[in-house]
Amino acid sequence: MALKDRLEKDRANGDRVGGTTVAHWRRRLLEEVDLDELATLTMAQRRARLEKVTGLLVTGEGPVLAPAERNSLVRRVVDEALGLGVLEPLLADPDITEIMVNGPDAIFIERAGRLTRLDGGFASEEQLYQTIDRIVAQVNRRVDESSPMVDARLPTGERVNVIIPPLSLSGPILTIRRFPRAYTVQELVGMGSMDASTGMLLASLVRARVNIVISGGTGSGKTTMLNALSAFVPEHERIVTIEDSAELQLKQEHVVPLESRPPNIEGKGAITIRDLVRNALRMRPDRIIVGEVRGGETLDMLQAMNTGHDGSLVTVHANSTEDTVHRLRTLASMSDVKLPFEAIRDQIHSAIDVIVQLSRGPDGSRRITDIAALVPARDGDARLQSVMRFEAEPLAPDRSVRGRFRPYALPPVLLDRLFHTGEGPPPAYGAAPAHQAVRPPT
Ligand SMILES: Nc1ncnc2c1ncn2[C@@H]1O[C@H](COP(=O)(O)OP(=O)(O)OP(=O)(O)O)[C@@H](O)[C@H]1O
Ligand SMILES: [Mg+2]
Repeated sequence: MALKDRLEKDRANGDRVGGTTVAHWRRRLLEEVDLDELATLTMAQRRARLEKVTGLLVTGEGPVLAPAERNSLVRRVVDEALGLGVLEPLLADPDITEIMVNGPDAIFIERAGRLTRLDGGFASEEQLYQTIDRIVAQVNRRVDESSPMVDARLPTGERVNVIIPPLSLSGPILTIRRFPRAYTVQELVGMGSMDASTGMLLASLVRARVNIVISGGTGSGKTTMLNALSAFVPEHERIVTIEDSAELQLKQEHVVPLESRPPNIEGKGAITIRDLVRNALRMRPDRIIVGEVRGGETLDMLQAMNTGHDGSLVTVHANSTEDTVHRLRTLASMSDVKLPFEAIRDQIHSAIDVIVQLSRGPDGSRRITDIAALVPARDGDARLQSVMRFEAEPLAPDRSVRGRFRPYALPPVLLDRLFHTGEGPPPAYGAAPAHQAVRPPT
């Protein structure tokens, strides 16, 4: 049955059974049980205990009901009391960053970057479906045969994806991504994702309005880095942020967050990142921050960066700094404005100043593994010049990643840029350009 129908049915007759309400019994149940004791039980024990107590309460205080009616009342009271069931304690645990349910029997979680499988699961497939319904109902979506895939964002910020059979061959699949915690650059330094000098350098680059692309694989920490770096955009600037699913948490006062919109059930009404980028250009932005470029909007973004909207920040899915340049070319060529290859290449070269590459280590850690500047080369082309590289030691037996962040002198274009905007680079990254070096008095 479709979610909506089910909810409507619930609303129409469900909340009232034999003259009493589910809410009433849930209240009575919570008065009766010892919550501290309950917390020590496993999910299955908890359910059994609550069902027993509810059963006794209904028998003792409630109306006379047919056994089927009584059982269904007890089940609904307990379902409500348990909220999202097995998922409740997982959602309450701030250290869990991702929850993956592969059918009723297999629940995986990600904690500190590592995946583990939980013991136990949902009591039945039916119960998993109920939980899914309850989750997507919070955002007025439904999952059924006609819309077997749903993407939603919960009011608490969690990103949820559901896909059910027949598309999924192993039962209903639920993936919940925690709303990413906002880390400051200082915290990222503390976690070993970069060293303090690199943090200072990135802060200066953002303040100096350098165009930065943050690249990395899935879950490598791109959005987290983008969020941390955007804190250095000066307070007086008007910032427009554009995302598919709003995750950035900017602290500045003058921020206009925009979020794209998926098509409705009839496949109409979609507003893409590209539409939003184009619209943003008419909003007099000082900075445009795009959560992730994935298609034709890349060209609009490059053009924006080349026409006075410098200091833009954007992320892209790529595996190395070189790959980022290729990927931007491919994405820009997906635009309906067909530019020759050379024109796209030139747009990229003049738009992008710095690429910050992130990687996720085998131990679950995320760090900057490469920073490169895109600098003009003699033949009219451009090349990538290393600004920082993480030099990893051979993997330790416990699979933890160790190594050191190795800085290189900044290319003159970046040094110039920093000095002209009153930002000195941190000592590890170079000195004043020759023409600005302090000269002894003559
Ligand atoms: N430097 C870091 N150290 C430890 N954990 C991190 C770091 N950066 C991000 N994380 C965690 O990794 C997870 C993924 O982060 P984030 O969403 O920023 O990655 P992403 O690359 O944007 O992912 P996606 O490809 O899905 O957009 C989050 O739970 C986040 O809190
Ligand atoms: Mg992201």
